[in-house]
Amino acid sequence: MNNAYVHGYDPRENLRLQDQASTLVELLHSDTFYPAESRVLEVGCGVGAQTIILAQKNPKALFTSIDISESSLTEAKKKVESKGFSNVRFQRGNIFNLSFGPESFDHVFVCFVLEHLSNPLEAIAVLKKLIRPGGTITVVEGDHGSTYFYPDSEAAHKAIQCQVELQKRGGGNALIGRELFPLLIKAGFESVRVSPRMVYVDSSKPELVEGFTKKTFTAMIEAVRNQAIEAGIIDRLTFDKGIKDLYRTTESDGVFCYTFFKAFAEKQ
Ligand SMILES: C[S@@+](CC[C@H](N)C(=O)[O-])C[C@H]1O[C@@H](n2cnc3c(N)ncnc32)[C@H](O)[C@@H]1O
Repeated sequence: MNNAYVHGYDPRENLRLQDQASTLVELLHSDTFYPAESRVLEVGCGVGAQTIILAQKNPKALFTSIDISESSLTEAKKKVESKGFSNVRFQRGNIFNLSFGPESFDHVFVCFVLEHLSNPLEAIAVLKKLIRPGGTITVVEGDHGSTYFYPDSEAAHKAIQCQVELQKRGGGNALIGRELFPLLIKAGFESVRVSPRMVYVDSSKPELVEGFTKKTFTAMIEAVRNQAIEAGIIDRLTFDKGIKDLYRTTESDGVFCYTFFKAFAEKQ
């Protein structure tokens, strides 16, 4: 995998992932339940933003959380220990080279990881081998093409497009949400169900204005400013206007919408 653009490798980005996870907990996880004693592999756990939610909601399930990044795993371990959860073990590993035997897990959980891979189908196929027959996979991803807002702004769309373009140049796909259904079907999963989870934000929901529009989405776009300008994808004035216009959507009459996609499928 090309690591040119991966969320989660600096402290500001860690905070953003944590804000994202805590803001979206109900929207993304209200239906993430694993039975007691089930063995769940969390792939690409990063700094543990989802891990603590999974471990808390499913205290009797046994989580193995892996990531390729040692420093992210250290953060994740700290987080889980500070919460006092004892149902998670961490292991460093690359999706494409994991040491687990075939069919060692009942369930696999993947969140915001496929978007960074140049070969997501291969990743899903590898993970499928690790699931026992009758087990399941859950995949959660965003899709930046699902972004719209009031007041609309061409500059804001251009700034968002910078992130999409840079992620593409790094081998990833910021528009992968819409591809979860075809990817899981191609990998041979059964009973594939994808549910769109729309985040709708206006000033009647101040916690989403702060936690999602500002600290999650706009922060993510703002973070690619220098890279996008240096790569010549956009000029400084247009980018800065785009960011200003994204913040404008957080004012009293503003509206911001984004859709995540949560896929669930079975292995037979
Ligand atoms: C955006 S972070 C998502 C972290 C976490 N799932 C969350 O939702 O907050 C993507 C994570 O995938 C990990 N990752 C990327 N490629 C990987 C690979 N080939 N094997 C294992 N982990 C990988 C990165 O190190 C990073 O921690």
